[in-house]
Amino acid sequence: MTYDAGAGAPPPPSLLVTGIAELVTTEPGAGSIGVLADAAFVVERGRVAWVGPAADAPVADQVQDVGGRAVVPGFVDSHSHLVFAGDRSAEFAARMAGEPYAAGGIRTTVAATRAATDEQLTVNVARHVSEMRRQGTTTLEVKSGYGLTVLDEARALAIARQFTAETTFLGAHVVPPEYADDPGGYVDLVTGPMLEAAAPHASWIDVFCETGAFDADQAREILFAGKGKGLRGRLHANQLGEGPGVQLACDLGLLAVDHCTYLSGSDVSALRDSGTVATLLPGVEFSTRQPYPDARGLLDAGVTVALASDCNPGSCYTSSMSLCIALAVREMRMTPAEALWSATAGGAAALGRDDVGRLAVGKRADYVVLDAPSFVHLAYRPGVPLVADVTY
Ligand code: NIG
Ligand code: FE
Repeated sequence: MTYDAGAGAPPPPSLLVTGIAELVTTEPGAGSIGVLADAAFVVERGRVAWVGPAADAPVADQVQDVGGRAVVPGFVDSHSHLVFAGDRSAEFAARMAGEPYAAGGIRTTVAATRAATDEQLTVNVARHVSEMRRQGTTTLEVKSGYGLTVLDEARALAIARQFTAETTFLGAHVVPPEYADDPGGYVDLVTGPMLEAAAPHASWIDVFCETGAFDADQAREILFAGKGKGLRGRLHANQLGEGPGVQLACDLGLLAVDHCTYLSGSDVSALRDSGTVATLLPGVEFSTRQPYPDARGLLDAGVTVALASDCNPGSCYTSSMSLCIALAVREMRMTPAEALWSATAGGAAALGRDDVGRLAVGKRADYVVLDAPSFVHLAYRPGVPLVADVTY
């Protein structure tokens, strides 16, 4: 008789996670987390099957007792640029000595990335993804944007796809040097052969809509071309100054627009009215000494806010969502609960995901055990590695 691994196979063992001093469940609806003291939950077939007081927990096949620690949903990092080679620590040091951050620094990484082998790039992405996992990120987005040729963008996305389904084509990061005199020709390349080669490996398309990169008309054209290939749009906008990007994202009904550092009153109204998620990247302001975005104003206006790392070798070389939470609380006046929501459910909203970012019945068993009795320690103990265990 042959063994049948299909319908007749025994179900995988159920797991009771208990001894939880504080379980962050994250209620549906913008910005609200639910906190259960002395809690437990049950995992069946990779999904949460039951959540409640530890005293009422049902029996399961296996038990994980976390010994009075807090449990939070895995972080959802909806914005990173991990496919790169080279190092820009000298640029960072110069910035700390007074040089401003400028989009042109991207070209330094483009040169190094083009010169790297597939294997070097893959090893580099793997190293950063593992760094993220160790720090509690269970879902991540990765962009291309340091290749800027048809082949280099396609290979960046093919490499990123080995690590996540949330891959974003960012051929429109900057105009590369060989097109400096012909930016229109570069837009034609991005919307034509580059998109054709990138689309099979990407879920999203992004444009850096900023002075020195791409204007609103170019961004609209690129996003429309991407849509024609089945890619959903997102934008880098209003990072270095006020501009049309946030308004464009809202007009087009994009799920998320990222940075939002310099916003006008009408940008804030547009974000509120469209429901487009404002993804704030406070590690960028920390690493460029720019003013932080007005998170408090956005939340008070009713805008949905996500937090992400923007991990990249130029404007912000951190992969730590805990640091982003601490900065959001200390520098942007978000409450610890708001910051945790934005780093989990908010990131999930920015990626259109409803299976992650919340610990609730039916969601993926995707969680982080903190070496702390409360999630507040993520902001209260900045810089301390509090992630004890990660499951995803
Ligand atoms: O999100 N703003 C555009 N792109 C990146 C920076 C990339 C770089 O400086 O290499 C960002 O900040
Ligand atoms: Fe970015």
